[in-house]
Amino acid sequence: MALDTDTRDQLIETVRRFVIERLRPLEAQVAEDDAIPDALVDEMRELGLFGLSVPEAYGGLGLGMEDECLVALELGRTSPAFRSAFGTNVGIGSQGLIMHGTPEQKARWLPGIACGEIVTSFALTEPEAGSDSASVQTRARLDGDGYVLNGSKRYITNADKAHLFTVMARTGDAPGAKGVSAFLVPRDSPGLSVGKPERKMGQHGAHVCDVIFEDVRVPAENRLGEEGQGFKIAMQVLDRGRLHISAVCVGLAERLIADCVAYAQERRQFGSAIADLQLVQAMIADSKTEALAARALALETARRRDAGENVTLEAASSKLFASEMVGRVADRAVQIHGGAGYMTEYGVERFYRDVRLFRIYEGSSQIQQLVIARETLKRGG
Ligand code: CAA
Repeated sequence: MALDTDTRDQLIETVRRFVIERLRPLEAQVAEDDAIPDALVDEMRELGLFGLSVPEAYGGLGLGMEDECLVALELGRTSPAFRSAFGTNVGIGSQGLIMHGTPEQKARWLPGIACGEIVTSFALTEPEAGSDSASVQTRARLDGDGYVLNGSKRYITNADKAHLFTVMARTGDAPGAKGVSAFLVPRDSPGLSVGKPERKMGQHGAHVCDVIFEDVRVPAENRLGEEGQGFKIAMQVLDRGRLHISAVCVGLAERLIADCVAYAQERRQFGSAIADLQLVQAMIADSKTEALAARALALETARRRDAGENVTLEAASSKLFASEMVGRVADRAVQIHGGAGYMTEYGVERFYRDVRLFRIYEGSSQIQQLVIARETLKRGG
């Protein structure tokens, strides 16, 4: 549901202020510590950020996709690790439940997810099932009135903080996508363990871990949708997630462009501010143009999704374009800052590393190309 204009503007202004006053001053510290202070996460809970997309009936803000993207644009203007703290609750960790949960499942978990008491996580990827997610090997064997899960998941965002996992596992003998089902698995289920956070190139403060299932019993009422529907549920969740990530990429690009403008106006070479040099201006112009195009594509796709259209193709296009775009913008940002861009002190090199992930997670650029090509061929142009 779309918010009325006043409420939407107020929410965006609140998030903008939170980003400027509370998050930006902590960017370097969070990267250094690889941890977000608990008190700051509590502030995020109080602001309602964990429940942005949870329907109002369950205590969330119930944002439509366009409004969520507008908020994600603001959140993009700082280190992406901050958004990750509640990103799984807004997107991949909760959307399976929101879109396919039974009334009982929703009543049990959504109120806790909305207020951030329950942190969620999405367990699809495995050591042997990355881009080829239909090949998951984690098994869910039917046993009496429930299932027994065995297997392992890899690079699972927020696994170390999560209370509830949406897990894709193989039921029955059907091969590929048709044999996959989705389950809601509480963190405290006996036999479920979480590995140590991986050391990463960037986005420090956001954690990914292995999740291991050893004879984990899951009651049948925790299955999401029908047996065999799990892959489609995961794809629908990702369609939506890819759009959200596009908006984050645009926000980050806008942040970097603003940083470049400030630096270029202050830094003097050849007797003038480097902002007066046309080759520097060309880099700023290219970044601005690409960011505007990515913004328009993301918001138009979000509006079409809100209107009920299937936007698999457009969401993939948006993710492809926005994630590649922010990579180029970050590269130019380092270039405009020159030697300073390569130094830790200025933070530009940190963003350069942070944005690299956008071209990989929630489907690599090559997977987006595959989805776009398949859909275009299917639609006949
Ligand atoms: N919506 C609904 N249904 C969909 C769908 C969608 N977007 N995409 C596919 N399906 C359906 C198909 O229609 C098909 O159904 P039928 O059999 O009834 O026709 C079924 O699902 C299988 O589809 P495909 O034949 O297209 O499946 P595929 O094996 O060829 O794979 C893929 C498709 C696009 C490559 C897919 O595997 C994919 O997106 N891979 C990338 C995975 C990915 O994004 N992983 C990210 C993990 S999460 C993450 O990164 C976040 C984090 O925090 C780290």
